[in-house]
Amino acid sequence: MDANETLIGHAKKAMANAKAVYSGFKVGAALQCKDGKIFTGCNVESSSYGLTICAERCAVFKALSEGYEKGDFIALAVVTEKSGPISPCGACRQVLWDWAPELEIICKGKGDDMLIRNIKQLLPEPFDSDNLK
Ligand code: THU
Repeated sequence: MDANETLIGHAKKAMANAKAVYSGFKVGAALQCKDGKIFTGCNVESSSYGLTICAERCAVFKALSEGYEKGDFIALAVVTEKSGPISPCGACRQVLWDWAPELEIICKGKGDDMLIRNIKQLLPEPFDSDNLK
């Protein structure tokens, strides 16, 4: 099994924990760190819908809150139960760009098709934190 397939397997397991109680749309993510550690995430929805967190940000925030830093991340797998690959929402793209600017993102549904992009392709003109300086 190659590295992408392994990461997708972790994301699928995380998808089973998704709390998609309002949308029914389950998402799983798995974040590969440079040191070999993998953090998973799933979407967790709120009754106040806008407070929902996506699977991608869940995984990144878990890693950061455990002491991992910007630049520690190599790849992120994102899976859903849809037939084809779904790519991350705009909010997640910004967070991924902020914290994992070299990230490769592997998106997969139930079918065999995979969408593989780096974050700079997904968010070519980001808000750059350098603007705050
Ligand atoms: N969702 C994700 O987890 N990741 C995305 O990139 C897009 C959307 C979640 C949020 C919400 O729980 C559900 O999918 C429907 O939008």
